[in-house]
Amino acid sequence: MPYNDIFARSISNPETFWAEAGRAIDWYQEPEVIIDDTNPPFYRWFTGGRLNTCYNAVDRHVADGRAEQVAIIHDSPVTGTISRITYGELQERVARFAGALRDKGVDKGDTVIIYMPMIPEAAVAMLACARLGAIHSVVFGGFAPSELAQRIDHARPKLLVTASGAIEGTKTLAYKPLVDKALDIAGHAVDSVIVFGRDFVEADLRPGRDYLWQDLVAAAPPVDCVPVEATDPLYILYTSGTTGMPKGVMRDNGGHAVALHWSMKNVYNVEPGDVFWSASDVGWVVGHSYIVYAPLLAGCTTVFYEGKPIGTPDAGAFWRVIAEHGVKTLFTAPTAFRAIKKEDPQGELCRTYDLSCFEALYLAGERLDPDTYHWAVDLLDVPVIDHWWQTETGWAIVANCRGIQELPVKAGSPTKPVPGYDVRIVDESGKLLGANQEGNVVIKLPLPPGTLASLWRDDEKFEKSYMTTFPGYYETSDGGYIDEDGYVYIMGRMDDVINIAGHRLSTGAMEEIIATHADVAECAVIGAADQLKGQLPVGLVVLKAGRSRDSDELAAELAGMVRASIGPIACYRTTVVVDRLPKTRSGKILRATMRAIANGKEYRMPSTIDDPVILDEVTDALKGLGFAG
Ligand code: COA
Ligand code: AMP
Repeated sequence: MPYNDIFARSISNPETFWAEAGRAIDWYQEPEVIIDDTNPPFYRWFTGGRLNTCYNAVDRHVADGRAEQVAIIHDSPVTGTISRITYGELQERVARFAGALRDKGVDKGDTVIIYMPMIPEAAVAMLACARLGAIHSVVFGGFAPSELAQRIDHARPKLLVTASGAIEGTKTLAYKPLVDKALDIAGHAVDSVIVFGRDFVEADLRPGRDYLWQDLVAAAPPVDCVPVEATDPLYILYTSGTTGMPKGVMRDNGGHAVALHWSMKNVYNVEPGDVFWSASDVGWVVGHSYIVYAPLLAGCTTVFYEGKPIGTPDAGAFWRVIAEHGVKTLFTAPTAFRAIKKEDPQGELCRTYDLSCFEALYLAGERLDPDTYHWAVDLLDVPVIDHWWQTETGWAIVANCRGIQELPVKAGSPTKPVPGYDVRIVDESGKLLGANQEGNVVIKLPLPPGTLASLWRDDEKFEKSYMTTFPGYYETSDGGYIDEDGYVYIMGRMDDVINIAGHRLSTGAMEEIIATHADVAECAVIGAADQLKGQLPVGLVVLKAGRSRDSDELAAELAGMVRASIGPIACYRTTVVVDRLPKTRSGKILRATMRAIANGKEYRMPSTIDDPVILDEVTDALKGLGFAG
């Protein structure tokens, strides 16, 4: 059935559509209501249904005769190791680790923080939580201790799972000191810390609180899956918002399992047994959905790659992994391809591998620029699919659904809305806009299953952040338009969130840190276009009266502060000192206008501007740095 019919059916009759998709999942008890819309905007999917996500991702494949199939391949180029775990072994490991968690007091409804590198034990820990009905919250390893502490205080975990260390690029990082520091900063105390020991770095264990993973699992009894309600939370994933406090996106069990399972065939066109590789990190939503849950729910083999696209050892790393493991589908961020293109512009390394197994490349996380798109198409000679989504939705909103019908590509557009997502464009007043008119991208409620159920412990913030600006719609905070053929174009965030190398960060959070510097009177951080990473943060800083500073020295101090508070992943390096910041007459800093200038986009001089000369000064300063071209 072609895309148009399936899409229309998903919007006109979501109950029937998703009830059918739900039949692919094993339930202890079938759902009574497919979508409970009695309390908008809090929609609940598959109410009355009882299931276990871990059962669906692991145990049922063993029961269906897939025990010998490889579930996870771990490829760690710097340590020189490749290991393979079958579904049978995964079941055994998850059941035992769930036993270890239970021995340490973790039960259904408890929260657990996971701070792990790209090793299979990260998936084991996530699945073990799901097995018990506990709620995990994975924190990306590139975040600094204070960010981890913030999440510990908000999620209030009973226990924290980590590893002694990670391989980051070619560096070795010790994780345990970071965890200890975070636990010292946090107000909330965990009962236990479980540390997976890696042989290249030792971890100091605090007696009575810290335990070695390997010791615990050796003594732990395997435990079975605990049935949970479809609406019970599976995980919390913190994501950057416009302030220093991240948003705790909460995902349910039932809707998540149904939607992700459905997406594997329909969006990605993969079948059970196929090798699916998402070159991201478990700390991001892509890692949750497409390294761990979706490939396993669909009975695929997933690749845990603990390396980079370049430097581990070279720009041929991705091609080596595809060829060596028989990868059919690769999912990564455009930045990875820009990095490869920079090192190997002719793609010579690619031609040294047999990529006959490779069928399609999926890119997301940031805008796919046409140059990178064409480079990848020419090099690989397979479909290159841009698709747009967010941590909040957990899976693609707009994509070329190859499993349904491959549509012609228009470079610069992620193609058309995925079934379930009724995407519209509205102006500031909420009026629907016509074809090719740029505005706010919104999604008519209800959102499909698998999308955020709420924000953890903060229904009010959920409503305020997403549901109140345009009543009846979910506000994506992305700007864009839909053309006359129904193709969606995403032009970038309308708020203070930026995408650095496909990683979502908050400029507001950086401003909060910079503002604490003794010499800084006020500041604005904006995302400026960068050829490799898509965007990089640039700080515009006004010094306190009477202060004068060497600009390089100040920039280094501020970079150090952001690195220490948020982490290296913020990539904050550039500071420009200006005399004044452009503001409206009511004193609001004109961030959106400066963003447009820094990205070389057209902008209209705001009618409310206080003093246009200040904007000229800032434009000159940005030009001096090579931005605003
Ligand atoms: N733990 C600790 N530190 C981390 C980390 C982690 N998991 N991930 C990144 N960092 C550090 C890096 O080491 C680097 O530190 P440095 O400033 O000391 O060099 C910093 O954070 C910035 O990392 P990154 O932006 O990744 O830059 P890079 O120069 O190391 O690598 C790319 C550049 C393009 C190769 C890399 O960004 C990449 O592979 N991008 C692909 C995008 C991607 O996978 N996105 C995920 C969403 S789909
Ligand atoms: P994250 O929540 O980290 O996945 O980041 C979501 C944001 O990344 C979106 O709101 C977009 O701004 C951006 N984004 C993700 N995918 C795309 C894409 N394919 N095209 C353009 N922007 C994208």
